[in-house]
Amino acid sequence: MQYKDFGKLGFQTSVFGMGCMRLPEVQTPEGRKVDEAEAIKMIRYALDHGVNYLDTAYGYHDGTSERIVGQALQDGYREKTKLATKLPLWRVETLEDAERIFEEQLTKLQVESVDFYLLHAVKADRWQKVQELKILEFLEELRKAGKIKYIGFSFHDQLEVFKEVIDAYPWDMCQIQLNILDEEFQAGVEGLRYAGTRGIPVVIMEPLKGGKLAQNIPADVLDLWATAPVKRSPVEWAFRWLYNYPEVTVILSGVSSMAQLQENIRIFAEARSHSMTPEELDLVRQVISLYASKTKVPCTECGYCLPCPQEVAIPRIFRHYNEGSIFEQYDESSRHYQELIAKAHDASVCVECGACEQVCPQGIRITEQLKAADQALR
Ligand SMILES: NC(=O)c1ccc[n+]([C@@H]2O[C@H](COP(=O)([O-])OP(=O)(O)OC[C@H]3O[C@@H](n4cnc5c(N)ncnc54)[C@H](OP(=O)(O)O)[C@@H]3O)[C@@H](O)[C@H]2O)c1
Repeated sequence: MQYKDFGKLGFQTSVFGMGCMRLPEVQTPEGRKVDEAEAIKMIRYALDHGVNYLDTAYGYHDGTSERIVGQALQDGYREKTKLATKLPLWRVETLEDAERIFEEQLTKLQVESVDFYLLHAVKADRWQKVQELKILEFLEELRKAGKIKYIGFSFHDQLEVFKEVIDAYPWDMCQIQLNILDEEFQAGVEGLRYAGTRGIPVVIMEPLKGGKLAQNIPADVLDLWATAPVKRSPVEWAFRWLYNYPEVTVILSGVSSMAQLQENIRIFAEARSHSMTPEELDLVRQVISLYASKTKVPCTECGYCLPCPQEVAIPRIFRHYNEGSIFEQYDESSRHYQELIAKAHDASVCVECGACEQVCPQGIRITEQLKAADQALR
């Protein structure tokens, strides 16, 4: 396992951190549930093989992830790892909510304190709530009381919001989504570098785009990867590309089987930071271009088209449409689209007023593309 300094906090963490949002599951009469025995075995295996960063959150696996992590951390395993969990801002309306949730988390995790406590999935509106409710002051009280050690946030919004949040507080760390297809999505590479210049360690989530870069890969993409002189799986290429950025501190990956966990531990034992050759980087660039060529709509999710008078979720619809096309399977995208239909934010409520097309910086013929997206996703 490779380790890196965690910024200036005075300790090192494993470059591969285990995300506990995609633990192994089994089918039960009540639906899919975490295979708890296997999950505990995997978490302990990871810690026995050099992983020393675990990431969980209040809501993962319908609230069971923290409890399972807590069980895995018994018998001396707590001392082997840094533990990160998160405050679900969308469940917090008052400071009392935050206090209650935090105490519940300590109980579920069976710990006296957590190392990293993150504001979960910060977005512009939630950031405003954090300030209004003085949640950071509350976290500082927890830190003084020794119940948390470090304060951070995970992020899901536009780059400008990321920069604002980064500059607003002396964060101990932050967590962003990044992978070869999300270089310019949300915080993206620019956000990674921005945090880096301010000395804030960055933890990466969704390095395999939630698994999409690992399975059901289009044949032409596989053929392109296969042209590399050194043969590596798409998973290994995706991890190595991230690890090449000096600003990346921990790469979290969810693993849903022991085989995946073992594979990722092997990759992070062999890969070296900042070591990709220009030819290797060029190959990744070609793969990115090939994926991009499968994109249906050149939407950058800038949000200029919003708010739509009919509340059509234009950028989200195009994201689902593009992802269905890029990965050549629409199942997941269609599922997301059904959620938009249920809330009447789908393309069928468009009245073709054209307001969006007047402001789209990409010049997208939005009404036409919405119809095509609706047909593909319905
Ligand atoms: N704070 C936030 O807002 C937020 C949001 C997202 C994630 N996170 C955290 O970040 C962690 C990482 O994100 P992620 O779970 O989306 O990571 P990811 O690495 O992008 O996706 C994980 C999935 O990739 C597949 N995979 C992993 N290793 C593999 C291998 N060696 N071979 C083949 N497939 C492999 C598995 O898919 P299958 O299960 O389909 O096989 C696995 O479930 C999460 O677990 C969670 O802790 C936080």
